[in-house]
Amino acid sequence: MDKIIIEGGNTRLQGEVTIEGAKNAVLPLLAATILPVEGKTVLKNVPILSDVFTMNHVVRGLNIAVDFDEALNQVTVDATGAILDTAPYEYVSQMRASIVVLGPILARNGHAKVSMPGGCTIGSRPIDLHLKGLEAMGASIHQEGGDISATAEKLKGAHFYMDFPSVGATQNLMMAATLAEGTTVLENAAREPEIVDLANLLNKMGARVSGAGTETLTIRGVAELHGAEHNVVQDRIEAGTFMVAAAMTSGNVLIKDAVWEHNRPLISKLREMGVDVREEEAGIRVKSDVSKLKPVTVKTLPHPGFPTDMQAQFTALMAVVKGESTMIETVFENRFQHLEEMRRMGLHSEILRDTAMIHGGQRLQGAQVMSTDLRASAALILTGLVAQGQTKVGQLSHLDRGYYQFHEKLAQLGADIRRESED
Ligand code: EPZ
Repeated sequence: MDKIIIEGGNTRLQGEVTIEGAKNAVLPLLAATILPVEGKTVLKNVPILSDVFTMNHVVRGLNIAVDFDEALNQVTVDATGAILDTAPYEYVSQMRASIVVLGPILARNGHAKVSMPGGCTIGSRPIDLHLKGLEAMGASIHQEGGDISATAEKLKGAHFYMDFPSVGATQNLMMAATLAEGTTVLENAAREPEIVDLANLLNKMGARVSGAGTETLTIRGVAELHGAEHNVVQDRIEAGTFMVAAAMTSGNVLIKDAVWEHNRPLISKLREMGVDVREEEAGIRVKSDVSKLKPVTVKTLPHPGFPTDMQAQFTALMAVVKGESTMIETVFENRFQHLEEMRRMGLHSEILRDTAMIHGGQRLQGAQVMSTDLRASAALILTGLVAQGQTKVGQLSHLDRGYYQFHEKLAQLGADIRRESED
């Protein structure tokens, strides 16, 4: 088991950092490569992450050729042959995001079987909206032996109102609707940049998706789709993670090619605290002096609200800013576990249901800590940068799902950080 070891206390991150393609974009994009019956699909700017390897295995398990050229960050997919109906349990069970292959397989084959994703540490992660939307399009859904089985001779366009703007459900239903008979309207749809990226690829494949990025998506069904070429959008959460890292270490960092539009809520909160965030030709520069920053209140919301995937990292910033900050997590029901670990480093905080009160500005001490999920891992490593002494972060399999060369990039910016194998 690897550990990341940080000698913290006087880190000031300086320099520039490059950002990878977005994990939360490339996973649904890979699911979309199931749809074309002619031509190959080439995805560029693909990040080298364990979740990408897992999704590649899921798609390969459908009798689809998937080639990942890591040197080029490029995946080429040929789905022109007959594809299987059942996604491989061994890989689907590793990553709940695999559920977004359900819609594409069903739309293409008329039948699909995908294992029911479990919950995870941050919440129960239901998929009721995915299933209700497919039923609205005429699919019959039933569960058998832990699998979801969906059947529809031909999906029919439907008008579906989503109780919650679920990212995964919006992606699954948008992809299914591309091959349905007639027009589908998804109301109260998710508006994240990753939804827009998926709609862009689908339209390059010959689909007719409009309204991506707004709360109403309209998809006019077509007979079939063809392969396309597409650059994966930059990872706004990795970019945001480095913005927070610069802010909490009184640093001066240029996040190269970062997209201002994709991080407006985060940038506005950083500015409210007194962090200097400005757009430059080459990207977004973040400068700060922690001693001058003010505490804030943040509430996570579906896009364009403050992203829940930046919540843990932002609490690490709140921990070093003198005064009482408040974080309200409205999207997931159990996403404050990193605060329990930070307590071991001297952070005082109270958690009451969806609200964490953070008493920032305490002297933090390095400690041995465990990460419980992907973003918690990043938050604990960032906290280690500012805590006095040595911090060891374990359970790095979570980190490797969503960050490429995270500690190398931090070391490049001046952090005293290394990764060691335990054995
Ligand atoms: C995606 O998960 C992301 N994962 C998550 O990122 C992200 O936190 C989340 O969107 C919200 O932005 C990927 O894109 C691979 P949701 P997803 O469906 O699609 C409820 C990370 O750290 N819900 O929008 O699963 C659900 O309980 C990960 O990169 C239903 O009630 O998110 C949750 O409270 C973590 N019924 C809320 O919606 C449903 O059918 C958000 O879930 C579906 C969801």
